[in-house]
Amino acid sequence: MAFEKVLTKDKNLPESRKLSYYEKVGGYRAWQKVLKTMDPEGVIDLVKDAKLRGRGGAGFSTGMKWGFVPKDTEKPHYMLVNADESEPGTFKDRLLMDAMPHSTIEGAMIGSFAIRANTCYIYIRGEFVHEAKVLEVAIAECYDKGYLGKNIFGSGFDLDMYVHRGAGAYICGEETGLIESLEGKRGWPRIKPPFPAIEGVFRCPTIVNNVETLACVPYIVENGADWFKSIGPESGPGPKLYCISGHVKRPGVYEAAMGLPLKELIYDYAGGILDDKKVKAVIPGGSSVPVLTADELDVNMDFDALAAVGSMLGSAGCIVMDEDTCMVDTILNITHFYRHESCGQCTPCREGTTWAEKVLKKIKSGNGTMRDIDLLYEMSGNIGTRTICPLGDAAAMPIESFVRKFRHEFEAYVKKEVA
Ligand SMILES: Cc1cc2nc3c(=O)[nH]c(=O)nc-3n(C[C@H](O)[C@H](O)[C@H](O)COP(=O)(O)O)c2cc1C
Ligand code: SF4
Repeated sequence: MAFEKVLTKDKNLPESRKLSYYEKVGGYRAWQKVLKTMDPEGVIDLVKDAKLRGRGGAGFSTGMKWGFVPKDTEKPHYMLVNADESEPGTFKDRLLMDAMPHSTIEGAMIGSFAIRANTCYIYIRGEFVHEAKVLEVAIAECYDKGYLGKNIFGSGFDLDMYVHRGAGAYICGEETGLIESLEGKRGWPRIKPPFPAIEGVFRCPTIVNNVETLACVPYIVENGADWFKSIGPESGPGPKLYCISGHVKRPGVYEAAMGLPLKELIYDYAGGILDDKKVKAVIPGGSSVPVLTADELDVNMDFDALAAVGSMLGSAGCIVMDEDTCMVDTILNITHFYRHESCGQCTPCREGTTWAEKVLKKIKSGNGTMRDIDLLYEMSGNIGTRTICPLGDAAAMPIESFVRKFRHEFEAYVKKEVA
């Protein structure tokens, strides 16, 4: 079946930012349907049945996560929209918020209803000044129209929504770092459990969802779970935004069905490699995921297919490198980023990223040894899973895969075959 765009179908700037335009193309019908005809459990069951999996990186079942929020607590519940989008190579949420802010807002409203939250915060990356303004205008339009506020459409349900700007820290995209930051503290991730669904912001039950995840929800309510499941693989279907950057002719954000063949993304959507060079490597899911070599590109862009080849869909931020790319330089660049963004709470992450950057610089400058390469590889196996949050793994996985798959390039520096 041919794929028809869903999330970006009505992208038509600047009109598509406006409530009037969004309503014209069917917007807020799902919200009214939920308020008038559904109960929270019904919404959760529908989203579970649709098999929507989170688009923020981990790919966890959205309906299942919503179902973890306790039903018998007196505490208020909170819905948090994760609009921090700082993963290198990822720029899809930014496009959604700019061009179609109301779809995420409507999804956040429906999610809030499902988890019985009367307050929703959109936590947005500090650098996204323009997008924060777009969201604020869109939220104000919703209050004017009665989609937000007290006793919405006589349903008895109240909902307030706020935009909260971060200060530009990658770690504040990690859900518990985000929660700490929203509470006005340093964005230091928390040890889990307790998971946010039980004890999140202000120690109350909280759900954190990605912008794109929530943007899918109104379409599921409108068109049904079977429609959603008809798009892409059974284990994680739906429309998907793919970011592609690096050495391609047409970098950008492309919408297609989940499970788009990676080669189709590179050669059809993004026009192929610049100057028609050969591809050397591709990072398929943002800089935290293991790299693929040119021989590993016959794979589909979905959660399970990429896991089967030892990588991850992550944030679907696909970074393409041509045959002239220096892999030592690239991993040094990536490691510099993680060293800088490590919050410093855990020794393996704080010290490991610092040490790895130093060793990579040493190798790059021609002063490295073969033992340094071995140590780099061994050390990367000692960071992951020994830390409070997955940033440690995010830093370690690329290093491990770069050294394993492109060891000859590291050795070439040691042997002084490259300057
Ligand atoms: C270091 C780090 C940074 C993250 N940054 C983001 C981010 O910018 N946006 C996002 O949606 N999720 C990010 N995540 C994932 C969140 O912790 C969380 O899993 C996600 O927001 C859940 O939403 P989802 O279930 O809709 O995918 C990050 C995770 C880690 C470990
Ligand atoms: S893994 Fe790194 S970023 Fe995450 S809590 Fe530990 S030190 Fe901070």
